Amino acid sequence: MNKKLIVAIDGPAGSGKSTTAKLLANKLNYLYLDTGAMYRAITFLALKHKIVKNESEIVKLLKETDIELIYENGNSRVFANKIELSEEIRSHEVNSNVSDVSKIKQVREILVQKQREIGALGGIVMEGRDIGTVVFPHADVKFFLTATIDERTKRRTKEMVEKGKHIHEDLVKESLLNRDKIDSTRKESPLQKAEDATPVDTSFLTIDEQVNFIYDEVAKVALSKGVEL
Ligand code: DC
Repeated sequence: MNKKLIVAIDGPAGSGKSTTAKLLANKLNYLYLDTGAMYRAITFLALKHKIVKNESEIVKLLKETDIELIYENGNSRVFANKIELSEEIRSHEVNSNVSDVSKIKQVREILVQKQREIGALGGIVMEGRDIGTVVFPHADVKFFLTATIDERTKRRTKEMVEKGKHIHEDLVKESLLNRDKIDSTRKESPLQKAEDATPVDTSFLTIDEQVNFIYDEVAKVALSKGVEL
């Protein structure tokens, strides 16, 4: 039997990547990897060490840090040198700085290599900005999720409020637009749809609808490749 598939899910913040990728991974019984959490972890540490504007110090710090992601019972957890940072990486301060840290070439090289090692055996749903273009350009199935800015703002604000972080929608919108701009115009692996990725506009889809659509597409590819799901 052929090896299990690599499924790449890319798109901007709030497009529904995480929810969809997690549910898809559960349905397929595949691993799930949130690559954004890795960029967030190093950003959090850079802020903590007050070196967020110093590229070479950030790279040095990353080389000394073992970033681990664990996915269990539907929860994705992130650790840096065995210390859990799952909550801390979702702060507004990290949101505001993560795109600048993600622009650093060497940061990307180190994290992309890690992501490739984790995904090498297949049987994984990996989400991010450059999975289908850079990390796994030969991924078996690729999706590019989008949604309108207003819908993405609504989703992100709701998420923050549910976590007890009350923040005005305007601020969330501004932060999303700012990240979109930096992520999609940066020199190193900008956020863009891979030519062979299937676009999915989730603005008017329910979560079930988007997961089922993607699952069906994955199942078709598996069938064509003789891979058992
Ligand atoms: O998916 P997220 O919002 O948690 O990602 C946080 C940031 O990390 C995002 O604004 C850009 C960066 N990122 C990246 O550059 N490449 C990835 N594969 C994933 C995330």
